[in-house]
Amino acid sequence: MRVGPAPGALPVLGHALPLGRRPLDFLASLPAHGDLVKIKLGPVPFHVLCDPDLVHQVLLDDRTYDKGGAIFDLVRTVAGNGLATCPHADHRRQRRLLQPAFHRERLPAYAKVMSSEITAMLQGWTEGGRLDVLATMNELTASLATRTLFAAELDDATFGELRLCMHDVMTGMMRRMLLPWGLLNRLPTPGNRRFHQARRRLRQYVAQLTTDYRRAGVDHGDLLSILLAVRDDNGQGLTEAEIHDQVFTFYLGGSETTAPLLSWALYLLGRNPEIRARLHDEVDAVLSGRIAEYDDIPDLELTRRVIMETLRLYPPGWLFTRLTTKATELAGHRLPAGSIIVYSPHIVHHRADLFPDPERFDPDRWHEDASRPPRGVFTPFGSGARKCIGEVFALTEATLALASIVGRWQLDPLPGAHARMAPRLSSTPRSLPMSLRERVIGVPPNGADRGAERLDAQPPETVIMRRTRA
Ligand code: HEM
Repeated sequence: MRVGPAPGALPVLGHALPLGRRPLDFLASLPAHGDLVKIKLGPVPFHVLCDPDLVHQVLLDDRTYDKGGAIFDLVRTVAGNGLATCPHADHRRQRRLLQPAFHRERLPAYAKVMSSEITAMLQGWTEGGRLDVLATMNELTASLATRTLFAAELDDATFGELRLCMHDVMTGMMRRMLLPWGLLNRLPTPGNRRFHQARRRLRQYVAQLTTDYRRAGVDHGDLLSILLAVRDDNGQGLTEAEIHDQVFTFYLGGSETTAPLLSWALYLLGRNPEIRARLHDEVDAVLSGRIAEYDDIPDLELTRRVIMETLRLYPPGWLFTRLTTKATELAGHRLPAGSIIVYSPHIVHHRADLFPDPERFDPDRWHEDASRPPRGVFTPFGSGARKCIGEVFALTEATLALASIVGRWQLDPLPGAHARMAPRLSSTPRSLPMSLRERVIGVPPNGADRGAERLDAQPPETVIMRRTRA
């Protein structure tokens, strides 16, 4: 195993600039410098895992490589000690208590809500319009997370403010990750003030939601009801603080990941019309223009592969940290207790020796008969005991949404538009306007080109489509 430093560290900033400006390119360049590569953010050293065996070793040993380091410390400032951020010592109890909310038998009920939210979203789309894809997918996944997990119907104003708070918190968290200097983050700058205000508001929202539930005393069959009902072996339930932290954790997990996944998938399909035409054939055959439902999922095989390939190219969680709880050895390199380890699915997913022609969007890599990737190679949902609890939920949501959207609409990137990643907590495109064209089922793939002529002749209005509730 090769261990080495990444070149190009600046005296005070370390590698903060390339990581902030072109994070994915910077990360993908690291395997050239070793299997375990040392980078610096400000004065803080990080050890980046570039080899799948090392990724596997670290993720499976969550006692030695515990949650910790810059990213989790930041997420903890908002999500407290929830399932995604809690240390190993608290994790098994929390996971046991929360797992029932994600049992397979609950999915059909979640899927019903998903299909109805997707229907509501598509009702707001109009022929020839221009769609802000990221904003629309954010809205869809945030409202899905709210309705399936907390069943709450928020009014539009509250919902909008919630999203704004979330955005400000995310931006503040990212800035803190790239510039981890305590003093700078405590100064009363406008950015810091926005961050603290947004954090306070979010806590208030969640507290209010919990109080309303307790007062109503009804089992809504959703996550919050489960959180209020669960008991461990000693008959102990979750404390108020724990409930708050889990609510926020699931809100974050449920909305900030699937939205970029869907956005990138639609962008990649727009850039690859042949694959999109094949996908049209699949969804036309399975759905005939209706909204996808839970029972359709096994028949949406190419849809599944498109989602897998999007997760490979643009894994929404692109950077995670671990903290060594004791002195240990990794790749033959001695690490003292308290060392920060970084794993990024993006790095291994883009290694040409593991995924030939890695920048090519090729859903056929994921043919059912293709051998499963070796351990540590494909980790969009992590691995080991800390693997994503919402994986099946997210894949269900993404499959239903993608199939329903492409069944009815064709989305094309605007001429000359190239999506670039914004350095946020999840790998989010900076902005993604696409043109909208309503599909006519049964029109052969070259019907798309006829549509393109029509659209060019009548330039679309620049509008952001918003969902309208049926
Ligand atoms: C495409 C969608 C999603 C992706 C790519 C994703 C990715 C991940 C990854 C990589 C981890 C492990 C993080 C680590 O190792 O430090 C994780 C954990 C987690 N995710 Fe997701 N996630 C997605 C959707 C969801 C959804 C929909 C939920 C909730 C409804 C969710 C809730 C969680 C939670 C609670 C954890 C912590 C699990 C634990 O530590 O036991 N995620 N996710």
